[in-house]
Amino acid sequence: MKIAMLGFGNIGTGFYNEIKTNYKDIEVAKVLVRDIKKTRAIESEKLTADFDEILRDASIGTIVDVTAGEASVKYITGALSASKNVITANKMAVSLAGGELIDIAREKGVNFYFEASVGGGIPVINLFNENVKPHRIDKVVGILNGTTNYILTKMADDGIEFSDALKLAQQKGFAEPDPTFDITGLDSAYKTTILKDLLFNYKCGAEDIFCQGIDKITRADLAYAKSIGYQIKLVGYIQNNASGLDIGVRPIFLPSDHPLAGVKNEYNAIYIEGSPIGEIMLYGRGAGAKPTTASLIADLLRLKRGETNMFNNAYEHSRLKKQQMPEELKSQSNYFRFTVLDVPGVISKITAAFEKYNISISSMKQDISNSNEPVNVIFTTHESKCSKIPKMIEEIKKNKFIISEPVWFKIGI
Ligand SMILES: NC(=O)c1ccc[n+]([C@@H]2O[C@H](COP(=O)([O-])OP(=O)(O)OC[C@H]3O[C@@H](n4cnc5c(N)ncnc54)[C@H](OP(=O)(O)O)[C@@H]3O)[C@@H](O)[C@H]2O)c1
Repeated sequence: MKIAMLGFGNIGTGFYNEIKTNYKDIEVAKVLVRDIKKTRAIESEKLTADFDEILRDASIGTIVDVTAGEASVKYITGALSASKNVITANKMAVSLAGGELIDIAREKGVNFYFEASVGGGIPVINLFNENVKPHRIDKVVGILNGTTNYILTKMADDGIEFSDALKLAQQKGFAEPDPTFDITGLDSAYKTTILKDLLFNYKCGAEDIFCQGIDKITRADLAYAKSIGYQIKLVGYIQNNASGLDIGVRPIFLPSDHPLAGVKNEYNAIYIEGSPIGEIMLYGRGAGAKPTTASLIADLLRLKRGETNMFNNAYEHSRLKKQQMPEELKSQSNYFRFTVLDVPGVISKITAAFEKYNISISSMKQDISNSNEPVNVIFTTHESKCSKIPKMIEEIKKNKFIISEPVWFKIGI
């Protein structure tokens, strides 16, 4: 079997080494890179910066895309259009254009596989497509980003602040020098929309769903969560409610006995509830060259065995078309932290706003103040209408005693 690769970075290098070492009957004939002069751990004659050279080579039937960034959509489109099978690890490409790419694959009678795009080495895509999709799915909740889970674990277990936990993640190679993609939740949003596309007939992109990252979380939030029997985790969620899908990415207070609450460090997990399937949890390494290579190779071996068209109907759902759940129907329990100047009237002004917006407080805690130092005031609430909360926060923020952006997280899932 003769293949080409697009990209030779972290994943590309790991994939190439694994193929070279353990799959003697698979030949990587060409590798597309941007900078052909850069020194790389591969024979230089295999490298090309000319994508068309790969397309023109009729002996190459399959292309493994391990590029980063949006150019991937263009490459996959070109490769499928040239009747070549494509396997990709690029979640951004699958999230942005998965449906269209599958259409091209179907039209050309080739295959488009993307197991490595979600959950690294966890076989979630194939499992969803084959075993999960046929059933009624009520809920999917996933810890889909290893970097943010590592940061939150370190903050919770070692009591360190976000910036120190991020530095540690970068030192260990779990976080990129520019971690924006991970910590803003966008990486999880791409993955959440891919899972949504496999299970539900509702078209929306990562930019269209609620997305809250982890950069506002402090060790005070994690310590408080722990003290009331919760862990804070960044999750992608899809809830299939009667009034529509509630889909998004957010830090969430998970009860410590929830199966996802014990998922630590760089590990990922995906929890599913449905009928008659019941509860399932998939757990494993969600990133890194080795686990991601395992998923790429699993797809490659499917092609090699001649298993075709597995995904050509992946996004076709016989079920009724879904819509997003209207915001005004959503309700939830909440956690709020206000960092305030310790002046008279703070609590009464904040609680007056809660009362005005009919949000019922279930607990309140104020730090002991140290002379003129700012203090944290923490509130939890009973289940309340979500649509009113942003307005309430805006009103509270107008008070001069509020000295930083208030923090608001959902409790429970
Ligand atoms: N890292 C993980 O743990 C992980 C896990 C699952 C999935 N993924 C996905 O796997 C893909 C690769 O990740 P990575 O960590 O290996 O990234 P990386 O180390 O940044 O490598 C990216 C590679 O893509 C090439 N590339 C980027 N834009 C290109 C373009 N326009 N044309 C040609 N080549 C281009 C780069 O070429 P140069 O070398 O010439 O710059 C580089 O070789 C990404 O889509 C990522 O989302 C990563």
